[in-house]
Amino acid sequence: MSKKYKIAVIGGDGTGPEVVKEGLKVLEAVSDKYKIDYETVDYDFGGQRYLKTGEVLPNSAIEELKSFDAIYLGAIGHPDVKPGILEKGILLRLRFELDQYINLRPVVLYDQKYCPLDLGQNQKIDFTVVRENTEGLYCGAGGFLRKDTTDEVAIQESINSYKGVERCIRYAFEYAKNKSKDKKVTLCGKTNVLTYAFSLWQRVFDKVAKDYPELKTDYAHVDATCMWMVKNPEWFDVIVTDNMFGDIITDLGAMIQGGMGIAAGGNINPKGVSMFEPIGGSAPKYTGKGLINPLAAICAVSMLLNQIGQEQAAKAVEDSVKKVVQEKLQSLGAGRMGYSTSEVGDLVVKNIIDN
Ligand code: IPM
Ligand code: MN
Repeated sequence: MSKKYKIAVIGGDGTGPEVVKEGLKVLEAVSDKYKIDYETVDYDFGGQRYLKTGEVLPNSAIEELKSFDAIYLGAIGHPDVKPGILEKGILLRLRFELDQYINLRPVVLYDQKYCPLDLGQNQKIDFTVVRENTEGLYCGAGGFLRKDTTDEVAIQESINSYKGVERCIRYAFEYAKNKSKDKKVTLCGKTNVLTYAFSLWQRVFDKVAKDYPELKTDYAHVDATCMWMVKNPEWFDVIVTDNMFGDIITDLGAMIQGGMGIAAGGNINPKGVSMFEPIGGSAPKYTGKGLINPLAAICAVSMLLNQIGQEQAAKAVEDSVKKVVQEKLQSLGAGRMGYSTSEVGDLVVKNIIDN
């Protein structure tokens, strides 16, 4: 008998549940076609639940979620909840406690007409950012001195461990070796100023690179990376970087691939449970209007399928999204697609069935 996958679904806040609904519709269609057996279990973590019960994430949830094959997440962030509570209490806590040490963010432009850049004929945007996902400035190390006085000092420390850096860089090299187009890994850092943190990154990068003599390597400071992403995005193949820089450059990456409506990411624990999400926020102003673009959430389903070893189904979803983007949509932005949220989901499903 074939395996029955268990998928935890956290719709979350704002437009999260709407886009997840479309993603699940696509998952159902593709699973039907490729005979994938799965069940989903819904979790109501998010702003609503917090406002009602005062609980962000029950401790038992972490252990429970470890028993799943994957987690599918919509969005976290509620306008009535102070910034940081849900982000740290749900999203970051899950990333840390499930040790999802890679944040994998592909930046692929399916059609030049959605790119805000004036790309030349041969310029293609197709690269992947491997963002470290459990350390750096995100650890919460630091504190205040003399808080709420004019002598206040706020310290926020970047934590970089040899083990944390090594496993992230090694993942990037493995990814480039097996999956990337140009077999090239670029370290994105700031070795000219952050001479402790990125000295470690650079030394580990050089050491790991020795195990992959067939791969090309490169280095770019983070500011220059932003410049090159706009000027010559085709230069990049796999970019590996720390948590904060990865957060920033992947928003820029999302824009050059057509916007938040299409950008997906995976929080990966290669030996544990991984979590897939559209990388945009909960977009509260669009909630319930059927205007939000579900393609990022649908691309997250494709990444999820890849991670659980259903590569064919993953590719079918990606190909279908590509076709919808190239042949149907007017824009990838909310309210400007020429179709409603659920109609876009239907278009993706139709391609999967027809192909
Ligand atoms: C992201 C988001 C999160 C991050 C926030 C919501 C905590 O911006 O997934 O990129 O900073 O990692
Ligand atoms: Mn971000």
